[in-house]
Amino acid sequence: MTGTFDAASTLVDFDALTPAVLRSRGSLKWSQYPGDVIAAWVAEMDLGTAPAVRQALEGAVQDAALGYMPAGLALSARTAVARFHEEAFGWSVPVEDVSLLPDVLSALAALIDHHTRPGSAVIVPTPAYMPFLSIPGAHGRRCIEVPALRGQGRSSWGLDLEAIEAAMAQGAGLLVLCNPWNPVGRVLSPAELDAVAALSARYGVVVLSDEIHSSLVIEPGAVHTPYASRPGADPALTFTATAVSKGWNVPGLKCAQLIASGPGRRAWQASPLSAGLDDQASALGARAVVAALSAEGLAWNSLVRDYVRANAELVARALAPVEGVEVTVPQGTYLAWLDCSGLALPEGLSPAAFFRREPGVAMNAGRAFGAGYESFCRLNLATGRALEEQTVSRLLQAVASLG
Ligand SMILES: Cc1ncc(COP(=O)(O)O)c(C=O)c1O
Repeated sequence: MTGTFDAASTLVDFDALTPAVLRSRGSLKWSQYPGDVIAAWVAEMDLGTAPAVRQALEGAVQDAALGYMPAGLALSARTAVARFHEEAFGWSVPVEDVSLLPDVLSALAALIDHHTRPGSAVIVPTPAYMPFLSIPGAHGRRCIEVPALRGQGRSSWGLDLEAIEAAMAQGAGLLVLCNPWNPVGRVLSPAELDAVAALSARYGVVVLSDEIHSSLVIEPGAVHTPYASRPGADPALTFTATAVSKGWNVPGLKCAQLIASGPGRRAWQASPLSAGLDDQASALGARAVVAALSAEGLAWNSLVRDYVRANAELVARALAPVEGVEVTVPQGTYLAWLDCSGLALPEGLSPAAFFRREPGVAMNAGRAFGAGYESFCRLNLATGRALEEQTVSRLLQAVASLG
């Protein structure tokens, strides 16, 4: 699909990004670490947002259309989301199955509170997006971490289905599936999803499929498959959470979506908390959803995916000869997962702390992603090319300093 925005000048803008420019914008990503550190941690992009999204937001500000959510706008956003899933992934979603809510994490909290048995555990495959590990405890549930199985190569991280089954057999109430999988970047295969669906049905376990990164598949030939689109996924046990917040870089605009059908939708919409969440989604966010999923918005997203893929290849190429560091290049997401267990680091320094020493690179520390990942770190690839080159050269210099 082609848009009418100026792709060439967009690329020039990306290439020209500098730390000074990014710091002056005042994002969370670039304001957290002082000094000359390159910010490559939290999942925000340095690449701005689609011109279509910017224009929609500018229009709303111009008109001071900054009030509560109009029903018509909410319907437009839900309709755009349903159409996107049909066109991008061949999954036909009735508009009434789409609910709006402020963010994906509020879906997890609401599902734990209202759709799982008190005292039942929550299964989280690890390494996991950090809040998946802390939210269950905050809602009176135990979290069972299920470490991934690891093989060789790009798509080497896989679900440990036996361990997931064992946790379900012990009475767990909810499985949090992350597809594409932050931080390992796996795009889960239909066969893996079918295996999960069979386990969910056998043990009556609810599945929350977090597909917030579905619009960020970057590996050529890789295809995102929505879990709920698989015939074995029981609608009474299946909830999908998604958003345009990652693919169009608007996580602060608070208008995520929950997709549920049949009994799952009725249960979700009947719970008072879910109804409250619907009202809390922001109108600006809904405008962003509509613009992001327009032809122009989709064209920008496609350009960004190509750009991030080139960054991922640059990083993988540069770090391939480095002994002690193994890069998992994402199939989907703009996050690379670095295994630094072969580095002889100074006593007491985690890889993230080591690489952050000035003039360093700030990444997320692996230990936040679950037990056993202390020697990993997560690198954000969504930046300008010159900055990616600078990032790589700092990482190489840091490793060289180990002698
Ligand atoms: C897998 C995953 N889920 C959820 C979120 C957060 O989404 P939200 O801000 O909509 O809660 C993120 C943010 O990085 C994420 O990577």
